[in-house]
Formats: sequence, C-alpha cells, structure tokens
Amino acid sequence: MTLNLGVLISGRGSNLEAILKAVADRRLDGRVALVVSNRAAAAGLEIAARHGVPTQVLPHQGFPSRAAYDAALVDALRAREVDTVALAGFDRIVSGTLLAAFPGRVVNIHPALLPSFPGLHAQRQALEHGVRVSGATVHLVDEQVDHGPIIAQAIVPVLDTDTEETLSERILAEEHRIYPEALQRLASGRLQVVGRRVIGGLP
Ligand code: GRF
Repeated sequence: MTLNLGVLISGRGSNLEAILKAVADRRLDGRVALVVSNRAAAAGLEIAARHGVPTQVLPHQGFPSRAAYDAALVDALRAREVDTVALAGFDRIVSGTLLAAFPGRVVNIHPALLPSFPGLHAQRQALEHGVRVSGATVHLVDEQVDHGPIIAQAIVPVLDTDTEETLSERILAEEHRIYPEALQRLASGRLQVVGRRVIGGLP
C-alpha cells in the first residue's frame, strides 16, 4: 500500500526531510500529501515547500480544547486524503480525536530508548541518569505520551565527553535512518500489533 502521509511538525523538520528524501529515493513507498505545523515560524515548512509539498499552518492557540484542535487537524488531513500521520517534532499532545480518525496509523519518533525517558528533553534525561547507551524509538501513538507499541529502535553509545548537543546529534542521525524504515514497514501492509508487540513487515 502506498502511504499518503500527513506529517505534523513544530520546528526544524529534519525528520520530515529524511522522510521526503526516502520518498524521493524510493526507499519509502508513499508520498507526503500535507505538512501541518502549529507554529508559523517552523523551519520545516520551507523544507516542505522546497519539495513541492503543500503546507498548512494551524496555530493551536484559540481552540477551546485539545479535541477541538485535533478535529481541525483531522479535517485538514482528510482534505488531502491522508491515511497515515507521522509526528515529527510536533510539540503538542494528540488526543483521542486524532487517533480515532486514523486508527493504528499515527506514528511518532522519540529521541530515547522508550520506555526510558519519555517526555521533554529525553537526551538530557539520559545524560543525567548516566545511562551508557541511548537511542531513538519509532512507535505507534496511543493516548499516553511516548507510550504506544514500538516499531523500531536504534542504539547509540553515550560517551564520557558527551553534552546534550553531541548526544542529540548522534541520536538524530539514527532517527533519520529508522523513521523512513519504520514507515516503510507500515507501507508493506504486513505489520501486526500483538499485545504491545509490533511484528512483521521486515524486509
Ligand atoms: C527529534 O529529536 C524528534 O525525535 C523529537 O523532536 C525532534 C524533532 O526534530 N520528537 P526535527 O524537527 O525532526 O528536526
């Protein structure tokens, strides 16, 4: 199945760019139909425009609730016939309204080895905890933050000399590799969720 992706961003957009490159290189069977940002200043909007992808800025301020904002998101995504939603540095918690509209088809990337270090500043949390390895996780989104079934993970070492910045860079390189790979597994149509385990769809 060819994915018709909606990518939600708030900032830099380097994961969006990795996804767009994978589409261009035919490593990912799909297309990005729409990029939505809740912030007008997100640099990722320019990346989308450069790739000829439609963009929409949907500021979250002014919506009475998370569900109301998510209903507007769903409308925007449906208008472009999106079937799969990739969160890529989207700094809002999504509600059941979005998840119900795209059941089992909302994916997120997190810069730590979940279930360790969910939430903000995952790389700083890892450094402060003193772990010797960290990494990145791509997972299906459920109603808890950074919690749903895990599709893919990658490991990086934590070095004695690391700062939050150097560790983040090392993790980011892995994010760019595993996010398109995980989406391609979804595209294969062979992924199954059994309990909390995601199986199948590997090449
Ligand atoms: C990434 O580290 C991602 O794991 C986290 O937010 C960051 C987004 O970076 N959820 P970018 O906007 O994709 O460059």
